[in-house]
Amino acid sequence: MTYRNLISFLWPLIRPYRWSFLTVFLLAMFWSLDATIWPYLLGKVIDILTRFEADRAAAWGELKLWLVAGLILWLSIEIAFRVQGFMLARTIPKMESNIRMTMFNHVERHSPKYFNEHFAGSLANKISDMTSQVTVVLQLLLTMLNPVILTSVLGVLFFLNIHFVMALLLALLILVHIGVSIYFASRVDKAEEIHGEARSTLSGKIVDSLTNNFAVNLFYRFKDENAFVEVYQEKERETNKKAKYAVEIMRVFLGQITFFIAGIGMNAAMIYLWFQGSITTGQVAQIFNTTWNIVQFIWMFSFTIPTVFSAIGLMKQALSVMEDPQDLGDDPQAKPLVVTSGEIVFEDVTFHYGAKKLFENKDVKIRGGEKVGLVGYSGAGKSTFINLILRFFPIESGSIYIDGQNISKVTLESLRRQVALIPQDPLLFHRTLRENIRFGRLDATDEDIYQVAKWAHCEEFIRRIPEGYDAVVGERGTKLSGGERQRIAIARAMLANAPILILDEATSSLDSITEQYIQESLERLMQNRTTVVIAHRLSTLAKMDRILVFDQGKVVEEGSHRDLLGLNRQYARLWEMQAGGFLPDSI
Ligand SMILES: Nc1ncnc2c1ncn2[C@@H]1O[C@H](COP(=O)(O)OP(=O)(O)OP(=O)(O)O)[C@@H](O)[C@H]1O
Ligand SMILES: [Mg+2]
Repeated sequence: MTYRNLISFLWPLIRPYRWSFLTVFLLAMFWSLDATIWPYLLGKVIDILTRFEADRAAAWGELKLWLVAGLILWLSIEIAFRVQGFMLARTIPKMESNIRMTMFNHVERHSPKYFNEHFAGSLANKISDMTSQVTVVLQLLLTMLNPVILTSVLGVLFFLNIHFVMALLLALLILVHIGVSIYFASRVDKAEEIHGEARSTLSGKIVDSLTNNFAVNLFYRFKDENAFVEVYQEKERETNKKAKYAVEIMRVFLGQITFFIAGIGMNAAMIYLWFQGSITTGQVAQIFNTTWNIVQFIWMFSFTIPTVFSAIGLMKQALSVMEDPQDLGDDPQAKPLVVTSGEIVFEDVTFHYGAKKLFENKDVKIRGGEKVGLVGYSGAGKSTFINLILRFFPIESGSIYIDGQNISKVTLESLRRQVALIPQDPLLFHRTLRENIRFGRLDATDEDIYQVAKWAHCEEFIRRIPEGYDAVVGERGTKLSGGERQRIAIARAMLANAPILILDEATSSLDSITEQYIQESLERLMQNRTTVVIAHRLSTLAKMDRILVFDQGKVVEEGSHRDLLGLNRQYARLWEMQAGGFLPDSI
């Protein structure tokens, strides 16, 4: 992650405001005028006052010119600063929102695989880091850089006009300061980057621990979690200390330089030149004031260097989320998927998570409108099979077709619109029940929502909540029971009204009676749709046209419920266990 990457990411987002920012940068020069011209005016006034010591009344004629100049300077500085402030107030919020939305848009478009590997909390942190730190750096550079440079140049020019020795000493002071700052800059930068990494790891651990607060509570592991986080906290503390020490050491050098060159050298030269009569009393005042101002500027600047580096360190860290390529983009030639009958075909599909082989040369065909049940031990690859239909993960080789169209060549949007999934463990948005259901089809009317809620038997429990459909469900849906969450997910899928329907243990959290009710609605929903149903409770599969038995990624048995019982292998064994050894005559 180099500076170049950072700039090429940021420039398009800053570019629209470049003229405003340039204006702010240029207006900052009024600060330099304040720091150099003001002492010059003061010097002039003192000289006039000294000259007219004997006849004070006569001084006014000369004095008023300088006083008016001072007032004009004062006013223009005031105006420049206010214009600068308003320009920043106008542009910074727009730029920040551009950065935030660009990053959110990039991050949200990743596959579930990506989110398995990245903490949502730390992704959100990075988005907000980038946004705030860009402002920190821009504001500092736009308002500080120009005054520091211009004040130094103007200061030297003014001093040349007074005496070359003073100009020489001032130039020396400035150059040595810049040299020392540059020398230490890379150390501070490196220390801040190491610290940034430690901080980011730490916040990832904190997010993970807080996300698992239920387990921490359950096992009463507060102290242990504290100790676990403390390990990472200690690393952060150490690296933070090193970064701060690097800055303080730099300041020791800068402080000594200022003391020797400005405090001793320049003051001695000034007093000597005054004794010699080479400079006037007013000029002494001017030199004294200007030098003081410049030293202040340089000091302020050297204080901002660490801030800028730590901001850049954070920005570089944050940029990593923009450098993760979107793993599941659309093919440039992708066409919308057109579902006619809803046939799903796996042809020679090979897929594994990392090194673990799961599917090898898998061939499966599901006819349009067919209702297929998937059965198998936990971890056999059932959820994975449907994840692949939805293209949540890219396959290694082979192809998956829906109605003859390769799903890797159709737009993701059209694919996801036409396949409705009721997941194994549905999570809900921290929004109202109404919004959660409407997520299935955004243009659904309230009547549509009430209808599907009724079918999915959500009504019973929603009616009991005082706020009804406008109740907010808690983060990830924590304020609902597992079965209630599942019914909301069913209602949502019903609303989506997609031609292909997938149920991954969609009723596993329901009691038998509620399940029976919902089964009727689901059966109605399955009509005229290709349906894939995963269930551990085999009775829910009895009405399927065909059942596939999965074992370690392979289809080891297939056929109707009766066929499979006849085979008397894995399925028959599972059925026997569940039916308690009692096989019904008919189903
Ligand atoms: N995101 C993932 N990364 C790595 N391995 C995974 C991932 N998801 C699942 N697996 C592994 O792939 C295998 C198949 O998982 P899958 O979720 O498809 O099983 P399943 O048949 O749906 O099981 P269950 O009945 O428990 O839901 C498992 O061994 C699991 O550990
Ligand atoms: Mg599963």
